[in-house]
Amino acid sequence: VDESTYEPRCPVVTVMGHVDHGKTSLLDYIRKARVTDGEAGGITQHIGAYQVQTSNGQITFLDTPGHEAFGAMRARGAQATDLIILVVAADDGVKPQTIEAIKHAKSANVPIIVAINKMDKDSADPDRVKQELANQDVIPESWGGDVMMIPVSAHTGLGVEELLESVAVQSELLELKARPSGNASGLVVEARLDKGRGAVCTVLVQHGILKYGDIVLVGQETGRIRAMVDDAGNTIKEAGPSKPVEIQGMSGVPAAGDEMIVVDDERKAREAAEFR
Ligand code: GTP
Ligand code: NA
Ligand code: MG
Repeated sequence: VDESTYEPRCPVVTVMGHVDHGKTSLLDYIRKARVTDGEAGGITQHIGAYQVQTSNGQITFLDTPGHEAFGAMRARGAQATDLIILVVAADDGVKPQTIEAIKHAKSANVPIIVAINKMDKDSADPDRVKQELANQDVIPESWGGDVMMIPVSAHTGLGVEELLESVAVQSELLELKARPSGNASGLVVEARLDKGRGAVCTVLVQHGILKYGDIVLVGQETGRIRAMVDDAGNTIKEAGPSKPVEIQGMSGVPAAGDEMIVVDDERKAREAAEFR
């Protein structure tokens, strides 16, 4: 692979943390949208993927489910990501899924930025959170460690701008690059069977340009892209690196974390699928 032709791409950031610590709320604030209200029981049902324009450039965010049962998916989420924002509620501290997220980040060698959330609450105790994180070997910069910890509130927006700046600073250090042209490759973020539309699949493009009409091999499934929609619901014809898109046309439903590649013809795709 000739990486000298690679060009800068925007960071992919996964938001992780214990159930109800405010992952979706924080993303909502960043997107200025309100999707938590519509979720059954306030529990995130699937991984969401959004690209957001900030004052420091574009950032692609992946929201991970809070359910214990989706641990495997979260583990895969860590592979797709450049950075992890670990959300810890200031009134609740480090909990089992916080520790799980730290393990995923460390095993995948992905840097963490901590968002100490719910700072608007009277019961917020950020020093306790820092101490509990330090006990997990996640040491704040202010204590001589290397982890940025930003006090935030997803409700008031306190600290959110600083959090986005920290993401920009960390990303710059990573010198993220991708192949800007040619056949696309990427990863499945989520997939489901839709009654009317068949297999619907959110993929994160990692290299090249994914195009309407492309023949793709996704996990064990093959197909021709016959609809492509961006995170705002707009129909698009092409998507480049770090862009999350929803595609239709797959023969079946792949699994989150499956690889996607574009191939030259469907027969080759089917042959390749058999060898997977
Ligand atoms: P799961 O996806 O179920 O794991 O939850 P989550 O981490 O996405 O948390 P979510 O955004 O659903 O928020 C859980 C609850 O905490 C909701 O009632 C939010 O309104 C509340 N909440 C989130 N952020 C804040 C905050 O900054 N301050 C206060 N006071 N409440 C918050
Ligand atoms: Na929740
Ligand atoms: Mg959520």
